[in-house]
Amino acid sequence: MTLNPRGFAGASWLRDVFLTVPREHFVPDQVWWPTAREDGLYSLIDRTERPRAWLKAVYRTGTALITQIDDGQVPPTGPAVGAFTSSVSSSGVIIELLRHLAPRPGDHVLEIGTGTAYTTALLTTRTGPQTVVSIEIDPRIAERARDRLTAMQLDPLVITGDGEQGYAPAGPYDRIVATASVRRIPPAWLEQLRPGGVLVAPLDSPFGCDLLVRLTGDGQDGGRGKFVAAVEFMRVRGQRERRPHAELGWPGELDPERWQDLRIDAGPRGQRVIEPSVLPQ
Ligand SMILES: C[S@@+](CC[C@H](N)C(=O)[O-])C[C@H]1O[C@@H](n2cnc3c(N)ncnc32)[C@H](O)[C@@H]1O
Repeated sequence: MTLNPRGFAGASWLRDVFLTVPREHFVPDQVWWPTAREDGLYSLIDRTERPRAWLKAVYRTGTALITQIDDGQVPPTGPAVGAFTSSVSSSGVIIELLRHLAPRPGDHVLEIGTGTAYTTALLTTRTGPQTVVSIEIDPRIAERARDRLTAMQLDPLVITGDGEQGYAPAGPYDRIVATASVRRIPPAWLEQLRPGGVLVAPLDSPFGCDLLVRLTGDGQDGGRGKFVAAVEFMRVRGQRERRPHAELGWPGELDPERWQDLRIDAGPRGQRVIEPSVLPQ
């Protein structure tokens, strides 16, 4: 399994939004480093105590920083252990997501998993005022995200709720992007995607990682697409429990080196991953 991030890959708009939005404005003052120390704990980097180390961590392109452990049960006061439940995604992964999403000025966008709102701010900077709805399930994280966006005079609508339901009142959307992964693409996302609209989301795979799926809406509550990158994301809360991949539309005995050849169909009756050998010529 190889991930070959292509960076901005000639997308100058993406480079421009990254240069416009200050990442440090969105990252909390206390974050955990995502690699465990020898004693099994994750180090806390506190901006007030180590401002230079904090800033260096914030701008390391290949690293997500952990902003919540165990759904907020662990206070950010020192080294800790537990399940990562919120983060600021790594810049490298956000670039990959946004490059494949390719939002255009004026597009209506739905984002699932607001987190720090850094990705939300990048999106809004591209698409413009009153274009972005972002859903975050954790009320405290959603509240902080709203504050950070308002302080930058950005106006996305941040909804506190279950992103698996989407947000129909502002739909349909030209673009839907999830920064939390799913095992099954929620039907509401497909229903709320405009015909020809693009959905980009990390989908659990049998290969020990998530695969970033890029689907185009078919106008009939479904979509078709392919996998564009291997990534690692936190799961949406409602889909944490493991499920057999066969139940989720994955064929058995796939070659992990050939994931880029696979295709996916998703719709009201579920999702189906298709091998190239069974595609019509
Ligand atoms: C990886 S973080 C998002 C990071 C964000 N892109 C950033 O850079 O700050 C995933 C977020 O999804 C949220 N989340 C989990 N399940 C969710 C759900 N069902 N609906 C909405 N948000 C959810 C988590 O609380 C977490 O804040």
